[in-house]
Amino acid sequence: MRFQVKTGKPEKQSCKVAVVPVFESGTLGSTGKAIDKLCGKAISGVIKAGDISGKSGEMLLLTETGDMPAGRILLVGCGKEDEFDRLEYRKAVQASCAILVKKPYTDALFYLADDCVADEHAYRAARIIAETWHYQSYKFQLPGKGKAPAAPALKSIGIAVNSKYASAAKKGLSDGDGIGKGMNFTRDLGNTPSNYCTPSYLAKQAKALAKNETKLTTQVLNETEIKKLGMGSFLSVTAGSKEPAKFIIMQYQGAAKTARPVVIVGKGITFDTGGISLKPPPTMDEMKFDMGGAAAAFGVMRAAIEIGIKINLVVLVPTCENMPSATATKPGDVVTSMSGQTIEVLNTDAEGRLILCDALTYAKRFKPAAVIDVATLTGAVVVALGKYRMGLMANSDELANELLSAGESADDPAWRLPLDKQYNDLLKSNFADMANIGGRDAGTITAACFLSRFTDGMNWAHLDIAGVAYHSGAAKGGTGRPVQLLVEYLLNR
Ligand code: BES
Ligand code: MN
Ligand code: ZN
Repeated sequence: MRFQVKTGKPEKQSCKVAVVPVFESGTLGSTGKAIDKLCGKAISGVIKAGDISGKSGEMLLLTETGDMPAGRILLVGCGKEDEFDRLEYRKAVQASCAILVKKPYTDALFYLADDCVADEHAYRAARIIAETWHYQSYKFQLPGKGKAPAAPALKSIGIAVNSKYASAAKKGLSDGDGIGKGMNFTRDLGNTPSNYCTPSYLAKQAKALAKNETKLTTQVLNETEIKKLGMGSFLSVTAGSKEPAKFIIMQYQGAAKTARPVVIVGKGITFDTGGISLKPPPTMDEMKFDMGGAAAAFGVMRAAIEIGIKINLVVLVPTCENMPSATATKPGDVVTSMSGQTIEVLNTDAEGRLILCDALTYAKRFKPAAVIDVATLTGAVVVALGKYRMGLMANSDELANELLSAGESADDPAWRLPLDKQYNDLLKSNFADMANIGGRDAGTITAACFLSRFTDGMNWAHLDIAGVAYHSGAAKGGTGRPVQLLVEYLLNR
């Protein structure tokens, strides 16, 4: 897809389809009025006739365009004009893209943000269009099966803005392009079933990402090497599986070698049965998404490469299956982590923290400016925050606030939960330095408290994305979150 900024007057911009907002009770914005005049009042005509009223979600395609150099005009209901905020704008772009994906038009021009009055506004408006196009045109396909689905006819998308804001809009389009591609990569990995998406498959994807990419180097450690590092906690999770575990290390250098990197650690459980503490059958299929943290980390790396982000970024992915078998770890087993701390595994279904803790210990060697782990870690976070906000926990207020505000700006929001010592005490064990579960209460927090014991000396934050990484039900599938929040955070640095 080619994304372009257009700064000329509507009468000078020829396109196959122009996307124009109609506000509630049939009002038009200033450009809308100009376009209406050009097309011989065709827009006010359909409004008068009651074909469209401007309510949020309404759509109407006009074929009568008069002197307006557009093959079609796509009218989009945007709600009340004085309430037209970023959320309404997003909805309008989503609805438009959803239609354009299916139409035969080869180019489109969006007139939804031509009244921008600030660089930030134009940047956001443009970025949302590029991101949304990628999101709406996504189709899942099993790797290596059949021919690729037919690509949409649309090959070029323009955004009309005042020339004052052209360069901000241009940056918005290119950032949105990178983020959209990153999100779709994340969705692809999440949607790919666990009999395809194994730890070895993820390792292959990491290698492929580094191919022809001079800024990125990928290293994959096998079980022998993982054992050598002393990652006894990580290995205890893979003990019941026939699929070999992998530890994936991706290093992206976008700044001076000496600049301390941001390290992102992604939970890569390619299937979580619960192990010997077996999960109940309903919705167990969704545990193929238990590598959502790893998928997001991959997506961020993809976006960083596309955008050419000027920072150093390290992605660490411990990846394995959590299976029950004669060789599986059993409740009550005590394992030794890479940090030397021992762990009593009271519940083999609390496996995410067991692989992440060793990766966090490993992260220390990069002397990170910040380390952020991303994980579908607890069902409890879904109970607490539902499927809109992800859980955020951190040992640094500054890092927490940066991530929270990145989430707000990117419409990929998080909510902070506390990490008081009183919660940390719930992890006491009679047989080891700690237990891997803290009981029924505050499950999201005790999981993070567990991780915090492996983060000494680092600026650390934890994102629990169990509620936001994928949709259940009829629209089952990966969401691409929280690539938006993380890239926003990296761009702000
Ligand atoms: N992968 C799950 C968490 C999860 C639950 C993700 C629902 C997405 C949707 C994790 O490994 C897990 O099983 N956590 C347990 C922890 C418990 C045993 C302390 C949970 O949340 O039930
Ligand atoms: Mn589990
Ligand atoms: Zn899990």
